[in-house]
Amino acid sequence: MAMGAGVKGERSWIVSCPRISSSTGKELDAGRTLKYAHTGIMINIRQATPEDLLAMQAVNLACLPENYQMKYYMYHILSWPQLIFVAEDYNQKLVGYVLAKMEEEPSAEVHGHITSVAVLRSHRKMGIAKNLMLAAHRAMQENFKAKYVSLHVRKSNSPAKHLYIDTLGYKVHDIETKYYADAEDALDMQLRFEEPAPKASSAATDKAQAVAH
Ligand SMILES: CC(C)(COP(=O)(O)OP(=O)(O)OC[C@H]1O[C@@H](n2cnc3c(N)ncnc32)[C@H](O)[C@@H]1OP(=O)(O)O)[C@@H](O)C(=O)NCCC(=O)NCCS
Repeated sequence: MAMGAGVKGERSWIVSCPRISSSTGKELDAGRTLKYAHTGIMINIRQATPEDLLAMQAVNLACLPENYQMKYYMYHILSWPQLIFVAEDYNQKLVGYVLAKMEEEPSAEVHGHITSVAVLRSHRKMGIAKNLMLAAHRAMQENFKAKYVSLHVRKSNSPAKHLYIDTLGYKVHDIETKYYADAEDALDMQLRFEEPAPKASSAATDKAQAVAH
């Protein structure tokens, strides 16, 4: 975790994505560090471990009506440990997660699926969800050669739709009527990895004012 950066008097926010090892042992992607001046918060994005699951469940319960039993988190981390990422603050408090998996139908084109993503209200609009999603996308491609990724989102969930469509480039593939327990429709979205995807956040492109160190 990148810590302690920042000129005296400045407040910095740091997102760092550590190198991820593939099943072949190859190092896949250089870490990146962003430093922001507008908040006093430093955030580390890293692959989840089994010790994170209870805290992930707590963030999920605080953020979403779609909740899962612990065995469902366990199933994900035992099956696809490469695809689950968490965001933690400087006290190692978990403030966001992305829970992802590979779809298992044998006939389908190899693709990943975002089961759930959430960020605590106190930490939203800082680019955390975007970076969690980008980490999961990259891990799907590098570890499993995924051709695309899919997800479901409530029709009414404007913040999430902005993240998926405008920020990450997902397209609406289908509408599943009454998909959710309360009968709300879901948008079935997909992002093909062959298509040009937005680059990972950079100090130049993020809305937040960044400071280079
Ligand atoms: C959806 C959610 C994960 C976004 O997390 P976040 O960390 O705030 O998102 P980011 O900061 O990465 O923002 C990504 C983009 O979405 C935009 N965005 C975030 N919240 C927004 C809001 N309330 N209204 C409009 N746009 C919003 C950001 O401005 C940013 O846009 P940009 O790339 O054009 O600058 C978060 O709001 C959340 O946890 N919501 C509850 C759980 C949920 O709905 N999960 C999705 C289930 S499918």
